[in-house]
Amino acid sequence: MKKLIIGNWKMNPQSKKEAEIIFKGIVSTAQKQKNADVVICPPYPFLSIFQKTKFSKISIGAQDVSVEQSGPYTGEVSTKMLTSVGVSYVIVGHSERRAMGDTNQIVNKKIINALKAKIIPILCIGERHRDSSGEYLKFIKHQLHECLANIPKPQVSKIIIAYEPIWAIGEKAQREATPEEFTEIKIFIRKIIFDIYNSKLAHNVMVLYGGSVHPENSAEFLVDADGLLVGRDSLIPKKFDLIIKSVK
Ligand code: PGA
Repeated sequence: MKKLIIGNWKMNPQSKKEAEIIFKGIVSTAQKQKNADVVICPPYPFLSIFQKTKFSKISIGAQDVSVEQSGPYTGEVSTKMLTSVGVSYVIVGHSERRAMGDTNQIVNKKIINALKAKIIPILCIGERHRDSSGEYLKFIKHQLHECLANIPKPQVSKIIIAYEPIWAIGEKAQREATPEEFTEIKIFIRKIIFDIYNSKLAHNVMVLYGGSVHPENSAEFLVDADGLLVGRDSLIPKKFDLIIKSVK
């Protein structure tokens, strides 16, 4: 199966011009990489600029979506708006959105909305702390159960899960996660999907890793991860290029 390399630009860069420069910087590497699909998730105002780059192998993703369809919801963006500018993926439940109020119930509604609009949801899960008594596993199980509530089997196969331990994300990360820590969680996620659904879905679900991925550790994570969700280094074409190239 092809790997999926996703760039989450978060609230960067600050101008359309800079966004175009970054994008151009990664197009040719993405085009040449036969074993991976590349998804760029820029802020909303830049989504439509990249719609025109249909020739490229890069897909466009949004960083969030509303639980509502239309109407008096100031600041919100609907699935229809996203599909109308060529968006085919959406990140839901990123820890930075959860910190701003997204609960598992809200994330669940966003997933259902995205699936209805044929947008592929990238569901982020991950614990704030690692403890020695295994509480983090219970936390992840709870997150998955609530985020996947009432989502029928045929739909679940379309969801991509990104394991992003909060303690390993961003400049303030306590430390980097190890590929072994990722593998433990990937097995655990599959077990949960098996318990809720069946072995076929458990086997087929794509589980990505995210949290301080950079060119020096990407290949190690890709041994077991079905792809990567990259924050900071997706804004630096030289580094993101190396990450894309690290797919064997
Ligand atoms: P980071 O962000 O790569 O900058 O740690 C990852 C993410 O939050 O998706």
